[in-house]
Amino acid sequence: MNIDIISVFPEYFDVLNLSLLGKAQERGLVQVRAHNLRDWTHDVHQSVDDTPVGGGAGMVMKPEVWAECLDEILDTDGAPVLIFPNPSAPTFTQQDATELAHAEHLAFGCGRYEGYDARIPVYYRAQGIDVREYSIGDYVLNGGEVAVSVMLEAITRLIPGFMGNADSIVEESYTGTNALLEHRQYTKPAHWRGLDVPEVLTSGDHGKVDRFRRDEALAKTSELRPDMIERLDCTLLDKQDRKT
Ligand code: ADE
Repeated sequence: MNIDIISVFPEYFDVLNLSLLGKAQERGLVQVRAHNLRDWTHDVHQSVDDTPVGGGAGMVMKPEVWAECLDEILDTDGAPVLIFPNPSAPTFTQQDATELAHAEHLAFGCGRYEGYDARIPVYYRAQGIDVREYSIGDYVLNGGEVAVSVMLEAITRLIPGFMGNADSIVEESYTGTNALLEHRQYTKPAHWRGLDVPEVLTSGDHGKVDRFRRDEALAKTSELRPDMIERLDCTLLDKQDRKT
């Protein structure tokens, strides 16, 4: 997968060379390039923003600079998906991450200030590009860099071969058609500072362990995320699930 990130703070993404993503780059599974949007400016101040048309506070990122940059970056083999983080967009979900993990080329545009000119996504959609705008949550950040890092981590860990243990992906929260919040996890020792691991987990009875974890996931999800319970497909639940 080829990943291009455009930002006025490309150094922000130096950390992507660390950890699992760094290893995935070394193995040739992904290639990440962070670009400085100012490299596509032509004025001495390298300005990327201007005042909002119609008035209002703050500055808006200029379409001409973005277009020069995007024309160059999107002009590669493989259908690119262009993603703009935006606090006023639909929320990015695990389902989006799963879908995007199969893309050949992702390009992320990080907005700053009051955001980017609204014609940029309109223009690239009209050129036939798959353009997405996503919020990562109901709060406002100073720019798109943190949001891109979040989305990138959620997407890249789902690339086949990225994680050592594919099982850990299958069982986690938000995954699958009938997603639930994940049950709690424990490790050894079974007794620690007066707190015990639930006895059933040390019983060696896999059926009972599975049932215990499933009940806990159902109870936790109904308490914290009733919206997820409402979305469950009841035909996929077993009798014991329905009792819980
Ligand atoms: N830019 C600023 N805030 C954001 C958010 N919550 N999600 C995505 N992009 C953003």
